[in-house]
Amino acid sequence: MKLWDIYATMKSDVSFIERELERTIVSDHELLNETSLHLLKSGGKRIRPVFVLLAGKFGTYDLEQLKRVAVPLELIHMASLVHDDVIDDANTRRGNLTVKSKWDNRIAMYTGDYIYGKALMLITELKNPSIHQILSKAMVQMCLGEMEQIRDFFNTEQSVRQYLLRIRRKTALLIAISCQLGALAAGASAKVSQALYRYGYNVGMTFQIRDDVLDLIGTEAQLGKPPGNDIKQGNITLPVLYALQEPKLREPLLAHIHHIRERNGETDVTEALELIRGSQGIRTAEELANRYLDKALEALKALPNQRAKKSLKDIAHFIANRSH
Ligand code: IPE
Ligand code: IPE
Ligand code: MG
Ligand code: MG
Ligand code: MG
Repeated sequence: MKLWDIYATMKSDVSFIERELERTIVSDHELLNETSLHLLKSGGKRIRPVFVLLAGKFGTYDLEQLKRVAVPLELIHMASLVHDDVIDDANTRRGNLTVKSKWDNRIAMYTGDYIYGKALMLITELKNPSIHQILSKAMVQMCLGEMEQIRDFFNTEQSVRQYLLRIRRKTALLIAISCQLGALAAGASAKVSQALYRYGYNVGMTFQIRDDVLDLIGTEAQLGKPPGNDIKQGNITLPVLYALQEPKLREPLLAHIHHIRERNGETDVTEALELIRGSQGIRTAEELANRYLDKALEALKALPNQRAKKSLKDIAHFIANRSH
């Protein structure tokens, strides 16, 4: 099932959030307008606000309230991408130039900070301190995850556990709280918001594992950016960790990684990618992603039966199989 078909039942609300996103970041500063609208207008799946809306269906659904969570969550995601492209030295995203590439790193850093600030302005309109605490904790965890990633660049001895802890922090928690905060903002019960958190966390783990697999097997047309960027950066992702466990592949793969490191990523990684694609690593990583998918679906069982539950189920399957 396509993502936009899943969204079809909530089309007008998603469009409303889209307009609110734009309204929130527009300012009379010409450059900030251009840089922040640049990424917004390039598209994106808007999966975090959609999770907020769907979670809101399990409580008292009030779009005016929910937007104060949905818009900030997408903005925090967007800001993190603007910064991420500086850190990952990425020139394209969503098929367009990145802010850091179209302008420069300094402008990208402030664009990200500006978008973060706007997110906080909106969420603090909700007078619920536990929402603020949950959000700020997740933002701190995202930074920790990114720092751990930098610390573990080119670390071929790291464990699968280390990788999982890192992606939990950098990606899964934000998705988990998108579901949780949607429920809280709609006044749903603790049982419901906990189940949605568990769903979001497990979907988030599937999401990043799939993202890491795609960076190895996807095409530029699918991804909106060239593949292989993670390994060029020294980001050793799950399929690579598994491939390194294969006796026949370990030495040649280590040699490639060593070479990439020596060249500071300024080298063709086609052969390294082929080696990894030919390993069991991709399949084993996909199996683990599917185990998280199963856990996400299991968490949904605690929720009452309604249309939103079916949509959450469809999105989880989409995420596990996505090619963009
Ligand atoms: C990309 O997130 C960054 C990760 C957490 C892997 P998305 O895949 O949700 O990015 P967009 O918003 O759809 O472009
Ligand atoms: C997720 O990781 C980024 C954030 C959590 C900000 P990636 O670095 O893999 O994201 P993409 O692949 O560039 O979108
Ligand atoms: Mg990154
Ligand atoms: Mg990146
Ligand atoms: Mg990626």
